[in-house]
Amino acid sequence: MDIKIEHNKNLKVKPDQSNLGFGKYFTDHMFIMDYKNGAWCDARIIPYAPLELDPAVMVLHYGQAVFEGLKCYRAKGGGLNLFRPEKNFERLNKSDERLCIPQLDVDFAIKSLKELIKIDESWVPSEPGTSLYIRPFVIATEIGVGVHPSSEYMFIIILSPVGAYYKEGLNPVKICIENEYVRAVRGGIGFTKATANYASSLKGQEKAKGLGYSQVLWLDGVERKYIEEVGTMNVFFKIGGEVITPELNGSILPGITRDSVIEMLRVHGIKVVERKIAVSEIFEAAREGKLEEAFGTGTAAVISPIGEFSMGGEKVSINNGKIGSLSQKLYDNLTGVQYGAIEDHFNWITTIDMHV
Ligand code: COI
Repeated sequence: MDIKIEHNKNLKVKPDQSNLGFGKYFTDHMFIMDYKNGAWCDARIIPYAPLELDPAVMVLHYGQAVFEGLKCYRAKGGGLNLFRPEKNFERLNKSDERLCIPQLDVDFAIKSLKELIKIDESWVPSEPGTSLYIRPFVIATEIGVGVHPSSEYMFIIILSPVGAYYKEGLNPVKICIENEYVRAVRGGIGFTKATANYASSLKGQEKAKGLGYSQVLWLDGVERKYIEEVGTMNVFFKIGGEVITPELNGSILPGITRDSVIEMLRVHGIKVVERKIAVSEIFEAAREGKLEEAFGTGTAAVISPIGEFSMGGEKVSINNGKIGSLSQKLYDNLTGVQYGAIEDHFNWITTIDMHV
């Protein structure tokens, strides 16, 4: 399928790169493709603008929508690097499958993304710690309020120059363990990037914010005993020299940064185990002085050290609230590969060639 291109004649003034925050600014163009009569069609890059939608489109009523998040990095030397983009589009297809949304062609999605970035290339920031956040998403656009899978969809990609996700940057964040609300249950949609998962997390997140915490750590939806994930990240603990992270059990997001960190740890000869982790185990390890580090991983959050956990009045401080040496090493290695400062032995980088 060809991609039609309409250039924006009213280019925006770009924001100050030293104060981007996360997801506040959007570039001059967007990619859209429709699904109609059983096929994806009408791929186009057009000026970024509001969408015109009938108030009865199904996404507005039953939330049939999924998304992804990946980044384009301004590499050392000026080039453009994507980090494992095929993994994001493969995961988007898994989310699509669970939500009865038609599959996308991964190669075509990556080709479309590259074309879009080439057009908005001047938006890829170059200040340290900045990148172009990529938000692909699919929404159900059939008009009607009967409950059934939509027969029409839009696949859209928008781009946003960003800095750090947390205002703390690489300073450790404080996390509140939520034991009242749950995010997801096995058999549900917790393993997908369905928009509904994020809607369901808001109440707990607001509660945590009110108590002075940056994020929520979710427990399993049945026993509320086992650790699942943090609002926008997977979570890792270093206890007695060994790294542990919750196993993928159907209600946890299979993070691409999570997967990359596990691979990096293994290559560095550090033992990493994916298993069920009871929250009591973390408090016990902390009491015994064995909890050395904790950190979150995610595209937006990168590697985010955790300095404090709290649950029902009990608090645990980790590494005196300072970033641990393993978290720092993982951050340096991961971002080193992403920005092209470290050789990509893993073959994780897809470059965007401006001349092709
Ligand atoms: C990402 O890391 O890309 C995410 O999806 C988190 C996002 C909800 C901010």
